[in-house]
Amino acid sequence: MAKQYRVAVCGATGAVGNQMIQCLEERDFPIGELRLLASERSRGKTLAYKGSQVPVQVLDENGFKGIDVALFSAGGSTSEKYAPVAAASGAVVVDNSSAWRMDPAVPLVVPEVNPHHIAQYKNKGIIANPNCSTIQMVVVLKPIHDLARIERVVVSTYQAVSGTGQKAIVELQEQMRAWAAGQPLVNKVYPHQIAFNLIPHIDVFRDNGYTKEEMKMVLETQKIMDDPTIKVSATCVRVPVVYGHSEALNIATAKKITPDQVRATLAKAPGVKVVDDPASKLYPMPLDAAGQDLTLAGRIREDISQERGIDMWISADNIRKGAATNAVQIAEVLIRDYL
Ligand code: A2P
Repeated sequence: MAKQYRVAVCGATGAVGNQMIQCLEERDFPIGELRLLASERSRGKTLAYKGSQVPVQVLDENGFKGIDVALFSAGGSTSEKYAPVAAASGAVVVDNSSAWRMDPAVPLVVPEVNPHHIAQYKNKGIIANPNCSTIQMVVVLKPIHDLARIERVVVSTYQAVSGTGQKAIVELQEQMRAWAAGQPLVNKVYPHQIAFNLIPHIDVFRDNGYTKEEMKMVLETQKIMDDPTIKVSATCVRVPVVYGHSEALNIATAKKITPDQVRATLAKAPGVKVVDDPASKLYPMPLDAAGQDLTLAGRIREDISQERGIDMWISADNIRKGAATNAVQIAEVLIRDYL
């Protein structure tokens, strides 16, 4: 019988954790034991996996005994504290938070882009899953970089509320219902109303005027692509969409390339689907990206304002490819090549 692994999902009751369980099931990850971990608030809960109900356990120092692979999505402070605990007890951690991403000893991986970095898991027993907006962007940038060397990217994001977690999905739904009923709209998760609004503020502001989310897109892209010379400037915006992040990308390349070349390159690229037929009103949209794992790329055109530039628009499911699927794909390479 093929080898089976003991897998923990830490933060199992959250938006990403739940999707991780679904991805493990869909992709038939070889699981011998599935351990679901969450906070005290989830004591007594069970979650469905392959037709049975698995009890949720309260996370503590002993939670990772005997575990081979631990998928974390329970927030930065939980990862900071418990990822080393899990690693010390012999598990390899795939961490969805930002806690470990920029640690030089921790690989930051998108399997379509830099699977070879996974070997560095041996340093600390931790592999970091990048930011959701970064993941979908680098899946598209890597093949273009290989073709024409990217010098600079200007990106604006349109990020769904599910990226903030389950509570933000509820906040948007409640605001929509309150609006329809003519009642006052309440905001607790976001600093402003999100229904019928856009909030150009994701994560905290830094001294340079960018937000931390925007700086993640800069630094993580350079680390994943192994190229600190790629310049990135990002504006990250929260939009009243439930699932699916979208991004407008303006890409400057060292070598001139045409939109047709970009379409042909992306059509062959792993993890990408070209959806680019404006005459038939076909272009990527979050509603179409949601519920599947490919990054949709379209509106591909030459930038009329510069010599060697390409504009495009991409959408991907932020909870799947932007988080859970990417983490499970990392785990698949890990068990195939290393464990
Ligand atoms: P719980 O549901 O018990 O609070 P989301 O990102 O959708 O808000 O989900 C966050 C996930 O992280 C949930 O599964 C949540 O569990 C879990 N979590 C948050 N804080 C902790 C903690 N201190 N210890 C363990 N799990 C936590």
